[in-house]
Amino acid sequence: MGYTIAVAGKGGTGKTTIAALIVRLLKEKKVGSILAVDADPNNNLAETLGLEVKETIGSILDEVSLHPEKIPSGMSKDRFIEYQVQTSITEGDGFDVLAMGRPEGPGCYCYVNNLLRNITGKLIKDYDYIVIDNEAGFEHLSRRTTRACDALVVVSDATPVGLKAAGRISDLVKELNIKSKKNLLLINYSGEIIEKERLKKLGLDYIGNIPKDPRISEISLNGSSLMALKDDAVSLSSLRALGDYIWREN
Ligand SMILES: Nc1ncnc2c1ncn2[C@@H]1O[C@H](COP(=O)(O)OP(=O)(O)O)[C@@H](O)[C@H]1O
Ligand SMILES: [Mg+2]
Repeated sequence: MGYTIAVAGKGGTGKTTIAALIVRLLKEKKVGSILAVDADPNNNLAETLGLEVKETIGSILDEVSLHPEKIPSGMSKDRFIEYQVQTSITEGDGFDVLAMGRPEGPGCYCYVNNLLRNITGKLIKDYDYIVIDNEAGFEHLSRRTTRACDALVVVSDATPVGLKAAGRISDLVKELNIKSKKNLLLINYSGEIIEKERLKKLGLDYIGNIPKDPRISEISLNGSSLMALKDDAVSLSSLRALGDYIWREN
């Protein structure tokens, strides 16, 4: 069974960046096979990892509804879609990527979510590590794209508003009975260590900070991938030091 890490948080907190850095560090540790799941319909995790994704679950669904004749006789539509999705997984250097995307057709959003959940559930057996970059906010949790994970990493800035949002995510995870073995809080863009007092009610284990990294800003400005980040970049070294909290079993 693969070890699943789900990254969640408010929009713009740095989820995709952190998910990509986690993938990069897992690759560096040579932990085995890694699947990066882009569960944000505005997918950009693959890009952040330096990969171009040609097909997404959304685009496959559109294609099948436009061309139902492509479903081989004797194969159910669901089975066909599942097969197509599995073959759409993009192979990168040391990791694979599965992207959810956004279907054009109306009313199939829940269907995409269900598919993503079922397929990820099956793929868990084929990979040693699965890193899920979730959609911003709370909706995806309600739709239960993530049903269970080994580590939930909630990313937040250090502001009171940001921390309140992180706390709401933590509450929702409990309310929805999402099975998560560890609920972690990671502060991004800031080196400011937050006092325990401010975190009391969050229900998350605060593991540390990723400071604002000028090299990330540079990379995102010139459109290259986080794979080009130097090994000693401050963001990468900070996350490397916190890694055991995230990817260790206990
Ligand atoms: N620690 C950091 N230092 C500098 N820039 C960062 C850092 N974390 C994220 N960013 C930048 O902030 C922006 C938003 O980050 P992103 O990971 O896309 O957030 P989200 O996925 O939560 O919407 C991106 O341009 C990203 O490059
Ligand atoms: Mg994102």
